[in-house]
Amino acid sequence: MKTVNLDITYEEYSSIEEMDPTDQMLVKEAIEAQKGSYAPYSHFNVGAAVLLEDGIVVRGSNQENAAYPSGLCAERTAMFAASANYPGKAMLSIAIVGGFSHSVADTPCTPCGACRQVMAEYQTLSGKPMSVIMFGTDKVWKFSRVDDILPFIFDSFNEK
Ligand code: THU
Repeated sequence: MKTVNLDITYEEYSSIEEMDPTDQMLVKEAIEAQKGSYAPYSHFNVGAAVLLEDGIVVRGSNQENAAYPSGLCAERTAMFAASANYPGKAMLSIAIVGGFSHSVADTPCTPCGACRQVMAEYQTLSGKPMSVIMFGTDKVWKFSRVDDILPFIFDSFNEK
């Protein structure tokens, strides 16, 4: 038996101005995307923006439903829209913002496990790392690849 440690590295910014221009742009797109959020049940509004390899940005927001499980998170809305409309184009980055009643929270908005799994599959498909930017007004986290937020990922492509 041995004990194994995992090291995860990520960047933390104290404001959007510290980020590189492409990341700033993507965060602003996610903030715009949040406006389309339909969350009358949780009142928690999330926006996400996906940057494709050719510079196209695809927005998504959480969409709820009276039959609760029928709703979908912002991140998956954005990624599924990106894949449906631009099949095969690598998703290089995704930015996420969230907050109650259409506010933007001061702490980073962290994606749920199901969204991480979907990010992982698109990253594997493209073979290019997808960075994940979790925005808060006081603090922003940037992970350079999905592996760092979903270790021991389920990957059926490995089952050969
Ligand atoms: N939500 C997202 O859109 N993304 C996440 O990663 C976590 C949660 C949404 C789902 C639901 O509409 C609301 O936030 C409250 O859970």
